Amino acid sequence: MEIIVQPTYAQLVAVSAEIIRDALLKKPNLVLGLATGSTPIGLYEALARMHKTDGLDFSEVITFNLDEYVGIPPNHPCSYHTFMEMHFFNAVNIRPENCHIPQSTAVAHEEFCERYEAAIVDAGGIDIQVLGIGKDGHIGFNEPSSSLGSRTRIKTLTQSTLEANAPHFGGVVDAVPKMAITMGVGTIMEAKQCLLLASGESKAEAISHAVEGPITAEVPASVLQMHPRTIMIIDEAAAWQLKRVDYYKQVYANKQKLLSQGH
Ligand code: PGA
Repeated sequence: MEIIVQPTYAQLVAVSAEIIRDALLKKPNLVLGLATGSTPIGLYEALARMHKTDGLDFSEVITFNLDEYVGIPPNHPCSYHTFMEMHFFNAVNIRPENCHIPQSTAVAHEEFCERYEAAIVDAGGIDIQVLGIGKDGHIGFNEPSSSLGSRTRIKTLTQSTLEANAPHFGGVVDAVPKMAITMGVGTIMEAKQCLLLASGESKAEAISHAVEGPITAEVPASVLQMHPRTIMIIDEAAAWQLKRVDYYKQVYANKQKLLSQGH
């Protein structure tokens, strides 16, 4: 795992946007796995700016979102469909037919989940999966105790997640849907690269367990220790509980030095 510690959220955003921009310049039909939540909003804004000012082209990009609430329609103001349109899709030249988000209103959920997985495979697999992390260590909506081999399915959200997401529902915990369709941990692990973003002190414990703790279903993000190409980009506040933070900074500085020398 590569751990990139940046002083601020703005710098975390800049580094993550550059990684995606560089990948997109190399592969115009990049397959992106996308996340919702507060953390990636800056990333989406930065990519939208790159589209507007530098003409970064999303016309061939294919996207798959991690998850969607069950029980609210796609046009609900708090749905992840609405979130993605508002924060990203409407701001770039992506084709609506190339954007995939789990359909929480699907009647036959199991069949829908199988089709969602098949669509990822048909697209050639996810090149870069953007991830946030929950305070409880979840990735997507794979809450603690999720099988580390799980596939796209319906999950019940933990109290911690309901509380964390309540601000988006007028601060009312009871208004947050109790279930979601989410890509599984196993689905996420098949992405060619994972880019996990974490900002703020409230994520420090989850980050320390995920990076330096044992691999366990109790902290689903810890399975990323087994992923061959995971980059975690975190700010100082989210990094403060890491024991080896100086080492991670040294690794990153050395890598930048080699890159600047043309290696
Ligand atoms: P956040 O959510 O970015 O809103 O903190 C992250 C997550 O729950 O995965």
